[in-house]
Amino acid sequence: MKIALVGLGRTGEVVARYLLQKGALSMVMCRPNSSKVNKDLGSILNMQETGIIVEPTDHLEERLFYRKPDIVIDFSCSSFLRDNINTLAKCGVSVVTAVTGYDAAEINKIRNVAEKGNIGVVMAPNITYGVNILMLMAEIAAELMSDYDFEIFEEHHKYKKDAPSGTAKKIADKIRNNGMTYREIPTHAVRAGGIVGKHKVLVCGEYDQLEISHESFSRVAFAQGAYKAAQFIYDKKGFYEMNDIFEYEKRQRSLIMSECRAEQTLAELDLA
Ligand SMILES: NC(=O)c1ccc[n+]([C@@H]2O[C@H](COP(=O)([O-])OP(=O)(O)OC[C@H]3O[C@@H](n4cnc5c(N)ncnc54)[C@H](OP(=O)(O)O)[C@@H]3O)[C@@H](O)[C@H]2O)c1
Repeated sequence: MKIALVGLGRTGEVVARYLLQKGALSMVMCRPNSSKVNKDLGSILNMQETGIIVEPTDHLEERLFYRKPDIVIDFSCSSFLRDNINTLAKCGVSVVTAVTGYDAAEINKIRNVAEKGNIGVVMAPNITYGVNILMLMAEIAAELMSDYDFEIFEEHHKYKKDAPSGTAKKIADKIRNNGMTYREIPTHAVRAGGIVGKHKVLVCGEYDQLEISHESFSRVAFAQGAYKAAQFIYDKKGFYEMNDIFEYEKRQRSLIMSECRAEQTLAELDLA
């Protein structure tokens, strides 16, 4: 699997290191006027030369044609995919986008292109495994504790542009959908220092309360999630979110379990 990474900011640099370790990174792209363009990735990451020269995102079709990546992992900003999703579809390059802050029109455009079926897209404003488990737990709480008050708290570093985070918005949607309520879920955002990412759902009743929380203490957690999503989308087309990956893995696991059980029954019959 050949991966092209777009965006070499705070998270992109960590993702680049991780993908290099996995031997999966073949191309890195940055904004055309970025000072990182035309430099060896190794010199940017303070490591030995990698042979991967950072390219600008202009003339994308020609670049993709020449490098032939299977998947683009996007840690840049919403304008990259908004402006280039049609080119990626034309070149048959699937996408994992971790970017947050897309507006509804941008999401619709990306979804429509993916659903035409030439490429796969994983849209993951919530890319860590743990925060997806938090969402599953919040869904259960919303279903079973619908008379409790739900509030969301999130904290990120001071450079994060969008607030509340894409993940916080998604948690609120899931609580509303599962609690079958249209009321707003209050969301509180903190932007301070170097906080990597924290989300907490407070479920508060008159006499007791429940807290569900997740914290990323290294951006490697984002890199792991993005790589997992890339492995998933490699042989698929269409539009997916991270929970589709977990559902798929659950189905695969139960398939393996039932095959094991069938083999065990056959072995027992043989012995009898
Ligand atoms: N889903 C998740 O769980 C998750 C986790 C972490 C981050 N994120 C998201 O990932 C994105 C990046 O985060 P970050 O913290 O790394 O931000 P950042 O430090 O600001 O880095 C963004 C990088 O993207 C580049 N860039 C911006 N616009 C571009 C474009 N149109 N084409 C190509 N490159 C472009 C920037 O280049 P310049 O330096 O030249 O401006 C910079 O290198 C944000 O949307 C963030 O919310 C999501």
